[in-house]
Amino acid sequence: MLPEEFYQVDVKKLSENPFYLMDDEWMLITAGSPDHFNMMTASWGTLGILWNKPVALCFIRPQRYTRKFADESSWFTLCFFPETFRDALNLCGSKSGRHIDKVKETGLTPVVTDNGNIIFREARLALECRKIYHDDFKASQFDVPSFVKRIYPTGDFHRFYIGEIVTCFQKK
Ligand SMILES: Cc1cc2nc3c(=O)[nH]c(=O)nc-3n(C[C@H](O)[C@H](O)[C@H](O)COP(=O)(O)O)c2cc1C
Repeated sequence: MLPEEFYQVDVKKLSENPFYLMDDEWMLITAGSPDHFNMMTASWGTLGILWNKPVALCFIRPQRYTRKFADESSWFTLCFFPETFRDALNLCGSKSGRHIDKVKETGLTPVVTDNGNIIFREARLALECRKIYHDDFKASQFDVPSFVKRIYPTGDFHRFYIGEIVTCFQKK
């Protein structure tokens, strides 16, 4: 059951700046089942319209534990938090769920949506996304080859996931 302080809002009614949201607030990407999930911090992301749907894109490198969950799930969620949770975001962005229990270490409270996905009670905004498309960046497709050298010196190209934003939760 979702905590009653969350309410669903039409994504078009959001008054958020996506540039600030991603680059400054950061987010948790979470994927998996209520029994077995993982979350990681991300600051690269995109919100917009594609195929006439509201979509969110996130980008996950191959070495992330979260990647396996994102690949095996049909959904992912993106959660945004008040500034007081910066430590939790730093932890989820520097330690791997392979080695620690991030829920235990951060004290964040997972809650299950009606679609069986995990968001966190402490989030101020959560986007529940159904995966539509994914692919890996490829060196051959870069129009600015210097990006490959600079961002992918070891060839660990991000996989991007395009998800339809099915539900948008905000706090009262
Ligand atoms: C601010 C910040 C932003 C990050 N953004 C991304 C990102 O967009 N994509 C990515 O693959 N890793 C990103 N990371 C790194 C992962 O969060 C980090 O490697 C994490 O420990 C992976 O956890 P996991 O192994 O449990 O999945 C970011 C880290 C921080 C601190």
